[in-house]
Amino acid sequence: MSAAEPESSLQSIRYRRGSLAVLDQLALPQHTRYLPVIHVQDGWKVIHKMQVRGAPAIAIVGCLSLAVELVNEPLSDKKTMRQEIEGKLNYLVSARPTAVNIKLAADDLIEFSNSLNEDEFVSAEDMKERFITRIEDMLQKDINDNKAIGKFGAERIIKQTSGESIRVLTHCNTGSLATAGYGTALGVIRSIHSEKKLDHVYCTETRPYNQGARLTAYELVHEKIPSTLIVDSMVAALMKTRNITAVIVGADRVAANGDTANKIGTYQIAVLAKHHSVPFYVAAPLTSIDMSIVSGDHITIEERPEKEMTHIGEHRIAAKGINCWNPSFDITPAALIAGIITEKGVFLPQNLQDTVSLLKKTE
Ligand code: MRU
Repeated sequence: MSAAEPESSLQSIRYRRGSLAVLDQLALPQHTRYLPVIHVQDGWKVIHKMQVRGAPAIAIVGCLSLAVELVNEPLSDKKTMRQEIEGKLNYLVSARPTAVNIKLAADDLIEFSNSLNEDEFVSAEDMKERFITRIEDMLQKDINDNKAIGKFGAERIIKQTSGESIRVLTHCNTGSLATAGYGTALGVIRSIHSEKKLDHVYCTETRPYNQGARLTAYELVHEKIPSTLIVDSMVAALMKTRNITAVIVGADRVAANGDTANKIGTYQIAVLAKHHSVPFYVAAPLTSIDMSIVSGDHITIEERPEKEMTHIGEHRIAAKGINCWNPSFDITPAALIAGIITEKGVFLPQNLQDTVSLLKKTE
């Protein structure tokens, strides 16, 4: 993990220059074990197998695997380095298709390596150093962004409640395990809790991969945040009976019109929230916003192996011979979203495009 992450938080990423290890999220909550990532191939593998998952963590671990490989290999000339960087980043992007963060990070790093290569005042040694530092900076930036998301999100939701204590529902895992630290949607919850305004969090099991039951529940217990686990089919009953203040989820990719891809099951929660007049918020850094696509119709949805549905571990629970469909994400239409909570503020989906273009201009 980056040096900046508070010690009490879970460390999903352990990094120091030349060395990277990631907490194996497939082994949680039973076992806490770290997997060494030495080469770009290791980075691809831990992302593809979902030993590391969550849109920001995927981007950071993928890019850090390249940084580690670069540190440990002999210095090549600038042109070769540039070519290798581009090829390896494109390979890392192919590990999982839906989350946009790794794609945007790769595009930015490829552009940066092109500019270093073209600058005649930059030596091969400087190029390598500056490129690695650029990747390392992603760790601290993600934590800072998440804390800002937490602050903006907490302010919005506390304001909305006029003093009542807050009950939140969240889906999937968006905490320290899914990011460099603090979390996005879980960061907002953490922030409401530290303001002493949180009554309770409900987290869904998040079938079929159980990120809620295995990972979010683990983080909530670890952080001593008052919380209850429900199965995915209990959401309507929960909203009907438990006076839920808001739903807060993360995002894997937000389109320019605000349509949001997130873990399968998010869309049905948003529909239920609308029915019960519960505001539905998406918490995501600007690195999850894909301005190159106009709507969610252009987002590729990853389909995962049917074994994730038919088995729990090695134990088969579904009837043999049944067909399965296992999309890992769904798209929540912008019309169901009350606000997109970013590190720059909370935006209405319909204002996202103008606001993000303006922010980019003033950067
Ligand atoms: O398949 P996963 O576990 O990588 O999916 C994760 C999610 O859908 C998260 O909600 C999203 O990446 C946001 S993480 C801050």
